Amino acid sequence: MNICIVGTGYVGLVVGACLAETGNQVVGADVDAAKIDGLKDNRLPIYEPGLDRMVERNQAAGRLAFTTDVGAAVGASDVVFIAVGTPPDEDGSADLRHVLAVADTVGRHMGRELVVVTKSTVPVGTAKKVADAVARHARYPFHIVSNPEFLKEGAAVDDFMKPDRVVLGAESDHARSLMAELYAPFVRTGRPIIFMDVASAEMTKYAANAMLATRISFMNDVANLCERVGANVDMVRRGMGSDERIGPAFLFPGPGYGGSCFPKDVKALAQTARTNGSPLRILEAVESVNDGQKRRLMAKLRMALGDDMRGKRVAVWGLAFKPNTDDMRESPSLVLISELLDAGAVVVAHDPAAMDEARRRLGDSIAYAPSSYDALTGADALVVVTDWNEYRHPDFERIKSALKRPVIVDGRNLYTLDRMRHFGFTYHSIGRNAVD
Ligand SMILES: NC(=O)c1ccc[n+]([C@@H]2O[C@H](COP(=O)([O-])OP(=O)(O)OC[C@H]3O[C@@H](n4cnc5c(N)ncnc54)[C@H](O)[C@@H]3O)[C@@H](O)[C@H]2O)c1
Repeated sequence: MNICIVGTGYVGLVVGACLAETGNQVVGADVDAAKIDGLKDNRLPIYEPGLDRMVERNQAAGRLAFTTDVGAAVGASDVVFIAVGTPPDEDGSADLRHVLAVADTVGRHMGRELVVVTKSTVPVGTAKKVADAVARHARYPFHIVSNPEFLKEGAAVDDFMKPDRVVLGAESDHARSLMAELYAPFVRTGRPIIFMDVASAEMTKYAANAMLATRISFMNDVANLCERVGANVDMVRRGMGSDERIGPAFLFPGPGYGGSCFPKDVKALAQTARTNGSPLRILEAVESVNDGQKRRLMAKLRMALGDDMRGKRVAVWGLAFKPNTDDMRESPSLVLISELLDAGAVVVAHDPAAMDEARRRLGDSIAYAPSSYDALTGADALVVVTDWNEYRHPDFERIKSALKRPVIVDGRNLYTLDRMRHFGFTYHSIGRNAVD
């Protein structure tokens, strides 16, 4: 099948590479010329495990190409995926400018009967707007499909190749059968393709992300209460999560959720709910709990080091919003770093993948350490923000001798209280008693 993916960001690039991997002819089209130039040379704009080799392999095989000429790519395709960004507008609703601009281009340049698939996360009702924008100039029949994407950054290739499910909102038999054919290689182990109407597909994506964000904020709220009443949230989590009705996933307390999806999707769904006269009060609370949680690490640092942070040197382990990605969008590390700098502290940071991204965002307002241990030298405290594997089993003697004071604030509960006591750290974590 000839496929055009418009937008070669996290989602578009993964979708394009995976569809090429299963034998389709794929062109990734983007307005960002620097990104496209890099991709032609197999230089990826993002870090995503396994993606670089897949892009290289499929370009070499002639199944994957990149262009800035969106119109030409659309003109030669049977299916166009719209995978451009939908950032939050001022009121929190999703900004559809990019999506509708692409829909306009699709209408102008389609060269045959076309299936137009929205991959971007868009509010209910967007399919109709996309259809109208395409129809304005369309010279051939077209079919609109809503196909929300559920991949997780850091495991995106695996998630796309072996999805839990594929959700397809489609109204015509032609679109349903073509999409079923396209996805057949990815659901061979029996994972379902769930066909539904377009509005339900659009809603499913937001409801799924809102549920996951709700679990996180709920556990963060519970963790904060655990601290007050002397309970250990890790025990509570295990006790709860083993109930089959609840399940163990997404119950880990931490420094608040970040990334490009949860914060904006929660905001957008809350806004959709308000404008439709059916406010989602739970979601409003989810967001405010998360905002508060992003400030907990600083509060804990003050507990350990005192209120006056001027001149204090703080080592930060982890800048990405989660492990295995260099994505720092809405990362809790950004809130912590901004609070530290405002309070006059000196920040030395380390991240296995996000150092370039951090330099781009933060410039020389902080120092960057070449290794996790280098960040510690002479620091008054270590704060763990991201649960990268390499931070899980560090050499605690080495940490203690490098730090000026043996203080660890652990935003991910990576270490046991017993170990911290054994090594003589002052240790603050989330939802567990402090070790002094
Ligand atoms: N990142 C994720 O984990 C994830 C997961 C599921 C769904 N989504 C959704 O997928 C969509 C894309 O997210 P992303 O993280 O890939 O975004 P991104 O910002 O990484 O990439 C978007 C790309 O679209 C390009 N673009 C913008 N306007 C364009 C236009 N008119 N023509 C051609 N290209 C254009 C940009 O240059 C950019 O390269 C969003 O709606 C997002 O909510 C993201």
